Amino acid sequence: MSGLTPRLLRDEAPFDLALDDGLRISLRPIVKSDEARVQRAYELLSEDSRMNRFWEKPKELSLSRAARLTDTDDTGHVAWIAIRPDDDDFPGYAGASFWRDAADASRAELAFTVADAWQRRGLATLLFSILWFDGWHCGIRHFYGSCRLKNVAMAAWWHDMGGVVEAGQRTYQLSLDLISPEALIHQVSYGMPPSYRLVETADWLRQWLELTSDGPS
Ligand SMILES: CC(C)(COP(=O)(O)OP(=O)(O)OC[C@H]1O[C@@H](n2cnc3c(N)ncnc32)[C@H](O)[C@@H]1OP(=O)(O)O)[C@@H](O)C(=O)NCCC(=O)NCCS
Repeated sequence: MSGLTPRLLRDEAPFDLALDDGLRISLRPIVKSDEARVQRAYELLSEDSRMNRFWEKPKELSLSRAARLTDTDDTGHVAWIAIRPDDDDFPGYAGASFWRDAADASRAELAFTVADAWQRRGLATLLFSILWFDGWHCGIRHFYGSCRLKNVAMAAWWHDMGGVVEAGQRTYQLSLDLISPEALIHQVSYGMPPSYRLVETADWLRQWLELTSDGPS
């Protein structure tokens, strides 16, 4: 890797991989033409997940909301989706995105949606590693977010990542300072024992460095 500037993962997309439990997925950025897919994916969510992600639980995701979620631009609003290879009818296992802060380009708000049947298999962690990798190389240094106090899963996940979780009256405020992918890999290898999910993040980041480097010539 020495001296090489990695390409971004978006330049490699789409790419396929298998999770440790054997689930095969295809990963790529979300694009404008995913509106209908995102609406169908919403239908796979439980009421709790709808409420946790969207703060309301309408029966259908409105077209305007789907349009906003798919209105990506590579730097200000970056979103990725995990879909089923060879089955375009299946809307997707999970999606994640960041919106860069208009007032401070080094900060971005993070959001996730993992379909209920596929939660706790590492999909949020995998998508996060992608947003970390490309985000870092586009100047993001801090992720933040918020979630309902009832959203134990998000708060626990954020804590596992080494983030700060602060309880307010109605929400948790979430924040996480980023370090470079190389620094995280080093820290996980030689630092204090981290959480399992942070080790997983470092493993993905290692793979992203390999995928985006030109390798030995
Ligand atoms: C929160 C959410 C994104 C986590 O996604 P995920 O793919 O299940 O997360 P991962 O498998 O990568 O990581 C699992 C970790 O998250 C936390 N977690 C996930 N579900 C949990 C639960 N039900 N209870 C406690 N902790 C939980 C734990 O830290 C867990 O680590 P462990 O499995 O080693 O104990 C997912 O539950 C989700 O999409 N929920 C609905 C929408 C939402 O809440 N979005 C977040 C607000 S933007």
